[in-house]
Amino acid sequence: MKTDRRDFFKKTSVAGLGLVSAGLGCSRQSESRDPFPQTHRQRFNMAGYSAPQLDLVRIGVIGIGERGRGTVMQLGSIEGVEIRALCDLEPERVKRGAELILDLGHKPDLYSGGEEEWKKVCDRSDIDVIAIVTPWHLHTIQAAYAMEHDKHVYTQLTAANTIDECWQLVETSERTRKHCTQTSASCHSGIHAVNLNMVRQGFFGLLIHAEGNYIHQLNNKEYFWNPDKGKFHRQWRLNQNIGRQGNLYAGHGFTPIVQMMHINYGDKIDYISSFQSNDFSMNETAKIMSDEDDFWKPWLNRDYRGNMNYGNLEDPTVYERVQFIKYFSKMH
Ligand SMILES: NC(=O)c1ccc[n+]([C@@H]2O[C@H](COP(=O)([O-])OP(=O)(O)OC[C@H]3O[C@@H](n4cnc5c(N)ncnc54)[C@H](O)[C@@H]3O)[C@@H](O)[C@H]2O)c1
Repeated sequence: MKTDRRDFFKKTSVAGLGLVSAGLGCSRQSESRDPFPQTHRQRFNMAGYSAPQLDLVRIGVIGIGERGRGTVMQLGSIEGVEIRALCDLEPERVKRGAELILDLGHKPDLYSGGEEEWKKVCDRSDIDVIAIVTPWHLHTIQAAYAMEHDKHVYTQLTAANTIDECWQLVETSERTRKHCTQTSASCHSGIHAVNLNMVRQGFFGLLIHAEGNYIHQLNNKEYFWNPDKGKFHRQWRLNQNIGRQGNLYAGHGFTPIVQMMHINYGDKIDYISSFQSNDFSMNETAKIMSDEDDFWKPWLNRDYRGNMNYGNLEDPTVYERVQFIKYFSKMH
């Protein structure tokens, strides 16, 4: 008889409870440790919902930096897509974006020069989807605004930076019935799609444990500490690592597992824990860089988060006894 994963966990959790009653196991953790308190009243379940089909998908892209240029090319290459608008703070970046898709037949309107120009793109009535490729701190603000203005959202990770921002996205999406999708190269491309398909077809049998990892080499001088100093908009990528703790970019290690294990599609995470090392490389890199160039002095002796992080997520159906998903992220 074929056992599906959820049935399997129901059976093992019943067995686990048997151990508790025999005094051999741990009792269930108190609700107060729940990292995702359900403070919000669900209005509508977006899982499984499909908005009315569009014959032509008209897109506005906000943020035409490192990743944005590739996004513009990728979206612009899809049949049935029209890139209607490009927006970035920097005028030359939107111009460059437009050049990249000229041969593909797109002639977007260009917006640049002001912190809030992107709102004009969201305000338009001839755009269906807003693609967000800006620094992290803008994602929730821009996504929520776009949904409020009748647009679906396709945002780069991380869609949100806090639990409150996560709920803001959920609530706005449910209320407006606009899709809010967080893209991730680690589950929306090539080999990852193949892996997911294999899982769904049962190639690996019953999945009871998975591990994912991702490495961001944050002391990379050519990339994050770029000598041209303009590569990342106002060094936002480095700055996100000051004064914050934990795994800020769990998406790549985590999202493929989420898809494979039906999280939020019949299963959910009940508990999460996160462990990190000290900073052993960022202040050191800041010292090397500022010895070479005074520009980097403001990044010296800062409260950088730990360089290696280990997170552990647990499934409610097996309570705290079985740790079935782990992700592991480290930086050199
Ligand atoms: N999925 C992946 O594999 C992957 C890979 C790289 C980056 N990313 C993500 O892509 C996003 C962008 O990263 P990046 O590397 O392109 O950074 P970047 O700094 O090169 O680009 C960000 C762009 O946003 C623009 N911007 C900033 N504030 C703006 C505003 N108010 N209005 C309009 N534009 C504004 C900047 O001028 C810049 O061009 C991040 O979320 C990052 O995590 C994802």
